Amino acid sequence: MSRRRIAILTSGGDAPGMNAAIRAVTRAGVERGWEIWGVQNGFRGLIAGNLDRLGRREVGGIMQAGGTLLGSARCPEFATPAGQREALASLEALGIDGLVVIGGNGSQQGSFALHQQGLPVVGIASTIDNDLVGTDITLGVDTALNVVLESLDRIRTTASSHHRVFLVEVMGRHSGYLALMAGIAGGAEVIVLPERDPEPDDVLLEIREAYRRKDLAVVVVAEGWRRGAVGLAEHLRANAARVDEIRARVTILGHVQRGGAPTYFDRMLGTRFGMEAVDCLARGEAGVLVGLHGRLTGSTPLEEVAGKTRSPEPRILALAELLAR
Ligand code: ADP
Ligand code: F6P
Repeated sequence: MSRRRIAILTSGGDAPGMNAAIRAVTRAGVERGWEIWGVQNGFRGLIAGNLDRLGRREVGGIMQAGGTLLGSARCPEFATPAGQREALASLEALGIDGLVVIGGNGSQQGSFALHQQGLPVVGIASTIDNDLVGTDITLGVDTALNVVLESLDRIRTTASSHHRVFLVEVMGRHSGYLALMAGIAGGAEVIVLPERDPEPDDVLLEIREAYRRKDLAVVVVAEGWRRGAVGLAEHLRANAARVDEIRARVTILGHVQRGGAPTYFDRMLGTRFGMEAVDCLARGEAGVLVGLHGRLTGSTPLEEVAGKTRSPEPRILALAELLAR
């Protein structure tokens, strides 16, 4: 067989640890004598044919950095058959015979689409939302959780000094995973999740009850819940009986949760996922998503992953309610 040429891209929302995965794929691939090509800005760069050769040195010194060396993008054009034809043509023009896609749910639907058209694709589970089937945890979640946790700890001190209600909105798109886990570890009085979808009046009652007991309330609101923290604040203003409820402060943590240096866990996870992706390609195992299965890395067919979403474990959801009391 002629020398293998593998392309690699990062797609969708960036996640801390993506660089560790790019570095591992590049170095493990070069070690096998393969050519590695980096695609700029996800599927958009694939359509435009923006690919550059990556060697060991090009991926040096990136492990510590957040974001992605390759750039990322959301590219609606790629979700169309015409977009995918152009992407495949770019790869064919360079003689690329394999692709590694580092990204979340949408990106892995893209991986599956390319796999179905005959391209050997290996996905790496990467998103701060942790909503992918086929892995216990996705790349970037640990860093994001630690950012949320530090923010909750800081907010709690000022909530305590001023005896205030704080509504803290946490990312996750449709998933409440980050809000749930950070809410538990941060000792939030109330955690509001799309998976539970409580009525605003019931949330108001919970906040009131917590405030009565503690003279403060840190409420973690997943962005995927109805109208998020802003909607909840409006509901409090319209229905509150007390001034502390009316004046609840809103903090939207936003993209700070996705930025910055990856934790030890995400650097290791990205590295291990990258090595596993290269091993999959070497074994001729394509059309799979690389993820963490227990303590080990492993792979799951993309057809079992694409278009599905993973929800937080019911036992942990129940735990949140028990601990907040
Ligand atoms: P993430 O991968 O973080 O979930 P997105 O949902 O924005 O992020 O998806 C990233 C990109 O994946 C999209 O911009 C699009 O190019 C591609 N994509 C998303 N959904 C599909 C789909 N159903 N089929 C093919 N490609 C898709
Ligand atoms: O999927 C990762 C994520 O950060 C979600 O949690 C969030 O809803 C979304 O991306 C934000 O997207 P954008 O960066 O395009 O505003």
